Amino acid sequence: MSNPKIDTTVPHSARMWNYWLGGKDHYEVDRVAGDQFAEAFPDIVAIARLSRYLLSRVVRHLSVEAGVTQFLDIGAGLPTVDNTHDLAQRINPAARVVYVDNDPLVLAHARALLVGTPEGLTGYIDADLRDPQRILAGAEKSLDLDRPVALMLMGILGYMTDADGPGEIVRTLMDPLPSGSYLVIWDGSNVVTGEALDKAQEDLNDGPAAPYTLRNKEELGSFFDGLDLIEPGIVPITQWHPDPDPFGPPSPVDALVGVARKP
Ligand SMILES: C[S@@+](CC[C@H](N)C(=O)[O-])C[C@H]1O[C@@H](n2cnc3c(N)ncnc32)[C@H](O)[C@@H]1O
Repeated sequence: MSNPKIDTTVPHSARMWNYWLGGKDHYEVDRVAGDQFAEAFPDIVAIARLSRYLLSRVVRHLSVEAGVTQFLDIGAGLPTVDNTHDLAQRINPAARVVYVDNDPLVLAHARALLVGTPEGLTGYIDADLRDPQRILAGAEKSLDLDRPVALMLMGILGYMTDADGPGEIVRTLMDPLPSGSYLVIWDGSNVVTGEALDKAQEDLNDGPAAPYTLRNKEELGSFFDGLDLIEPGIVPITQWHPDPDPFGPPSPVDALVGVARKP
């Protein structure tokens, strides 16, 4: 890879995620760290894939039931199948989607992300979630912030430690958005697995990869203060408006999601 900013000596979350998703945009260092984590917590591979099905159900719900036409997706990840703009513009070709990520490989692949419909708009901002003002300044160039926006934080808030002030970051991003906007968060938890996951996460956090904070239902719920959580509230990602499954109800996994409307 010619881009000097792409560090192939340290595992990166976007590349490990792509590895677990079965993609091809990862390096040896990501596969080693990814395998080590998956050995201790095998559900991570299923969670990565199930989270993409969740994305599709959430975008469908917001587009069809709530009439949302603008999406700000922070922590976009490497392009894969059925990215947010693919899903939203399939339902409404005029939908506007702005992605944000701070990973240089995601930036390098952004061109693939940027192919949307001619009627709609697909944008990309290279920014860190810890700088919400920069994200808002970039977003308002492409999104009409006088109309509802769905702020999507899909598998990213865990990279914010409590010291980063994730609650303040979420409030800063939601503040300028009008009534009828939505906040969507899914994030890693440890309410199902227990000790094995705590140990796997501690080991990963002790290494060179960006540390991740697992949060429980109450902690995740605090990010939705002042907003109206829609049914069924905060639940494992498998249980948020699941599609009918002939094999019965889905099992809970250690990833929680909530979707809320700004009153
Ligand atoms: C676990 S992946 C999730 C990708 C995608 N949202 C999904 O659900 O499939 C987390 C993404 O967040 C990005 N990320 C992590 N920390 C970030 C930060 N501080 N600012 C912006 N993006 C960040 C990573 O580069 C990665 O692409």
